[in-house]
Amino acid sequence: MTDTAPAPAAAAPAPDHIVATRAFYDAIAEDYADRFRDVFAAQPLEPALLAGFAGLVKASGVGGEVADLGCGPGWVTAHLASCGLDVFGLDLSESMLGVARRENPGLRFEQGSMLEPGVPDGTLAGIVSWYSSIHTPQDELPALFTGFRRLLAPGGHLLLAFQVGEEALRLERPFDHPVTLDFQRRRPDRMAEILEAAGFTLVLRAERAADEEQGESTPQAFLIARAPDSGR
Ligand SMILES: C[S@@+](CC[C@H](N)C(=O)[O-])C[C@H]1O[C@@H](n2cnc3c(N)ncnc32)[C@H](O)[C@@H]1O
Repeated sequence: MTDTAPAPAAAAPAPDHIVATRAFYDAIAEDYADRFRDVFAAQPLEPALLAGFAGLVKASGVGGEVADLGCGPGWVTAHLASCGLDVFGLDLSESMLGVARRENPGLRFEQGSMLEPGVPDGTLAGIVSWYSSIHTPQDELPALFTGFRRLLAPGGHLLLAFQVGEEALRLERPFDHPVTLDFQRRRPDRMAEILEAAGFTLVLRAERAADEEQGESTPQAFLIARAPDSGR
């Protein structure tokens, strides 16, 4: 190499919402895990829905891994693995990944952003984004879902979970940590439209009532969509 060789291009700085999301979950990871560890026992419809998603992926015959994008403490990843899927988890937050690896030692967890899970385009049999698109600004959802479609193999499935509503909730000082983050609520019909515009076909749209005893203030929505068989 000569001393006139161009320097490698610097990586673009992460957008503000990514920086804020990572800092927020790095601060609260252990408290979050303690608070939500028993969530599936309290909400038995949710593991049933994940099992249904696993059944769809297996029945589709589409080969490849399933990515749990925004896996947090890894409970969804573990449940999908127990349903027979070849699954790995990915998250922005190293502290969340620390919990996930400690509590699920047989599973693979990677650090990264949802659109860069470190696998080639067109190779995933499934993607789960379980309450992880809730920190993506509304105007970035079309690009997020188009990116999910690009990562999926033809005929691959996507599962989204999110809170229903119109207004974002700003959470300040959770568990007394000095961090703040916006939690977006979404309209399922609008989410379905964005998925369809990204090339998906909607397979399931489900909503359950808020469980106020568990501290929920909004209904919860679950969408399953399928990537096209070809013609990416
Ligand atoms: C509300 S938690 C949900 C965690 C887990 N899916 C669960 O249900 O327990 C949101 C998680 O998504 C992760 N996350 C949010 N945006 C992300 C992104 N762009 N890429 C990767 N992870 C992201 C956060 O770090 C956090 O761990």
